[in-house]
Parts: sequence; C-alpha cells; structure tokens
Amino acid sequence: MQEISKEQKQNSLKNYLKNFIESSGLAEGRELASVILSVFDSCRKVYAELQAFSSIDDQFLDSFNATGDRQLVMDMRLHNIIVSELRKNRGIASVSSEETARILEFAAASKSKGMDNSAEAKYHVAFDPLDGSSQFKRGLNVGSIFSIWKGNTALLRKPRESLEVACYALYSYRMFFALAFRGEKLLLFKVSPNGDTSLGDDKLWLKKDNDFFSPGNIRASTATNGYLPYINEMARAKKTLRYNGCLVADIHAMLISGSGIFTYPPEANKKNKLRLVFELIPIAALVEACGGLALDCESEAILDKTPILLSDTSSFVAGSSQAVESFLRFFQKKT
Ligand code: F6P
Ligand code: MN
Repeated sequence: MQEISKEQKQNSLKNYLKNFIESSGLAEGRELASVILSVFDSCRKVYAELQAFSSIDDQFLDSFNATGDRQLVMDMRLHNIIVSELRKNRGIASVSSEETARILEFAAASKSKGMDNSAEAKYHVAFDPLDGSSQFKRGLNVGSIFSIWKGNTALLRKPRESLEVACYALYSYRMFFALAFRGEKLLLFKVSPNGDTSLGDDKLWLKKDNDFFSPGNIRASTATNGYLPYINEMARAKKTLRYNGCLVADIHAMLISGSGIFTYPPEANKKNKLRLVFELIPIAALVEACGGLALDCESEAILDKTPILLSDTSSFVAGSSQAVESFLRFFQKKT
C-alpha cells in the first residue's frame, strides 16, 4: 500500500477512502468504501444517541441476547439505529448483530418487495452495537465493533481469507474510528463534532514487550491454571495495570500506547464470554494490523478460527507479541 501523503491525512475519511482504494487497485473498491462509510455514519448516529442519554436508557429489558446477557434499552435502540442505517446501502446483502441470534437479509427483503438487488449486494456486516454496555451504565467509555465480509455471512469461513475490513468506534470526549483492510496497517481517525475526520495516526505499532497489562476475567484466576501466578508476575515486573472493562476501550488504550496485553482466559465450567464474530475476530484483525498477536488460550490465532454459529465464543489473549507468548507459557503450565 502507498505511503500516506500529508494532504490525504488532512482529508476527510470519505476523500481518504476514495484515494486509498482507487490507488490500491481493488476492483470493488467503490462498493467497499461505500459500506465503510455506511458503518461510519451509523457510528455517528450511535454517538449522537449516546449523548442524548436519558434515565431510562440504562434500564434492563426482559430480553437476553444470543449469549445470554440481559439487554439494556440502549443496546436494542443502538442495534435498530445501525440496522436502519446499513439497510440504506444497496451493497450490503445482510447484517448480523450481537443483540439478535440471526442473519438479517437485506437483499431478500427487497426481493419480496419486487426490487431484486441481490446482484449488487456484495457484503455482510457483523456488529456489536454497544461494546462495554455494563460500563455504559456507569458513564464510562463504550464502543461499537464491526466486521465487513464479502458475501452474505461471516460463518463457516476463515477470517484471515474472507474478512475484508475490521472497524471499531470508541465513544469518548470525541469519537475515534479505527479501521484496517485485510493485511494492511490500522488507520485511526479522530472525528470532530461536525463529522469531519482527520487521520490521527497511521503508524500505530505494538512493540514486542508490554509496559501495561489488562487482565479480564479475573474470576478465572482461582481455577487451576497459571492466571494468578501470571498476574503476580506482572505486578512483580512493575507493569502498569490498565483495565476499562470495555474491550474497545482496552484495545484502543493498548494500540495508542504502542504496548500492552489484554487477557481473557477461560473459566472452569463456564462458557467463554467474548464472541468470535462480533468482538474477537474484528479486534484480532485490528491488533494484527498493528503488529500484535491475537490468539485463544490454546495458541490458535483468532483469525484462523472458523466461526460456526453467531453465538460462538472463545478465550482470548492479544497484544504485544512477546507478552502474549509469555502469558501463554505461564497459562499453559497449568500450575
Ligand atoms: O462485551 C463484553 C464485555 O463488556 C467487553 O467489552 C469487556 O472486555 C468484557 O465484557 C469485560 O468482562 P469482565 O466484566 O468479565 O471484565
Ligand atoms: Mn461487547
């Protein structure tokens, strides 16, 4: 991929994508760029909705998502906002969301209305509308995670071969929008209140060792494995603890710092919490785009795992490469 010029850095995401994709010679660059812009527009709507927060938004509904988490009023509202925004894009064949257990076909819906757009609908978009929703209730940073796949599903395919683009939006004092094309470096945009975007960083790179550690699922430390010794080792080695309790925020902090490790090992007799399609695959692609590793606790790369069901989950460790390898040595000792 070409070096990014100073002029391109100052351009909006829209102009930037146009130049970037045309110069990369991708045949279907225009459609893919338009899908990315729809994802970006849906994130801006989500951010506006979060800022209009009212007291009922952090109430629970009587419903549960595909992996059994009780849903918030806000979870479902943001799900609906994203679906209606993506539905406008005729290049999107179908979507799937962490909040529903099924694939929603857009092309089929148009067909039934006598407007067959299946010929032009080329992409599937999978998303987690409100990542870190338990922290949202506390007024802390949250995010959205997206993956864009060629075709009409994210299932039964190897992400390393079939995932086109991974993105997240972090909703903080500003919105940040990160994206990575398959096999390319990560691009991080800072979004101003009027929607203008500036390329904040295109040189994010994780060094091999970690200065920070983010230990998720600390409940697993009581099980018979090396998690507690590992956490002790991090403390002994004077590493700095940074844990937001929101995957997007923890990964963003790691990427901005250029160093770190996020761990989410399995807990005995419990299903893993983090979802492959909606969370881990796109986050793994973004971590790898910064030179990091993203594996499960059996050392398999997340991008080499084939999701079978939308509700599939996995253990997870990601970040600075040597730090990930050293965690797995500790963890797999099963002390
Ligand atoms: O979506 C699940 C999630 O909220 C992630 O954003 C976050 O990394 C994780 O759960 C936190 O889990 P725990 O509460 O076990 O630390
Ligand atoms: Mn999530």
